[in-house]
Amino acid sequence: MRADQIRDFYDQCADRYDAKTAPLEWLWLKRLRQEAGGRLHGGTLEVAIGTGLNLPHYGIGVTHAVGIDLSSGMLLQAAMRSREVGRPIDLLQMDAERLAFADGSFDSLITTLSMCTVPRPEVALAEMMRVLRPGGRAVFLEHVRSPNRDGYCGAAVAESAAETPAWVLSGAGFGGDNPSGRVQHRV
Ligand SMILES: C[S@@+](CC[C@H](N)C(=O)[O-])C[C@H]1O[C@@H](n2cnc3c(N)ncnc32)[C@H](O)[C@@H]1O
Repeated sequence: MRADQIRDFYDQCADRYDAKTAPLEWLWLKRLRQEAGGRLHGGTLEVAIGTGLNLPHYGIGVTHAVGIDLSSGMLLQAAMRSREVGRPIDLLQMDAERLAFADGSFDSLITTLSMCTVPRPEVALAEMMRVLRPGGRAVFLEHVRSPNRDGYCGAAVAESAAETPAWVLSGAGFGGDNPSGRVQHRV
């Protein structure tokens, strides 16, 4: 799908998104979001923030947060959640493939369940690594083909040093050869 089609799709389902995904949140995702969010620190960027389901799980070390998404409908939901949970965040409509931030702007970043949707994930990843400061922390929660359950999708939380983004998508999962990348959980 093109970016404008993705934006329209999420605009149309934004107010029903949380209800539709609630069973998965209950089964797996809430626990993984807690683990992922606890790894964030300092100035933090969330890419493709959606309805802001990670916001309640940001660690206390997050000093300033910025969230971007293509869909204004999803951003509206995220704004409501930000108020509900008392986690202030600057929300901006922006394409993950063209982040309007200077190099090295953030201490940490997170993106969850997004790389299957962004049209060119390799471009978005390169942008994320550009805006992350050297030595910053990138945290990913993505669903990938699981090595543990043949034919099933699994979810995993992984983190990587800013210098080593490419491994994240390698091998249709989080494994890769790069020893600095760590997979925290697989299901
Ligand atoms: C499956 S939802 C995941 C939302 C949220 N990250 C979560 O964990 O619930 C995918 C999100 O990616 C956003 N998205 C897709 N392509 C994007 C792009 N190129 N730039 C920014 N956001 C994008 C969609 O608008 C949608 O909010």
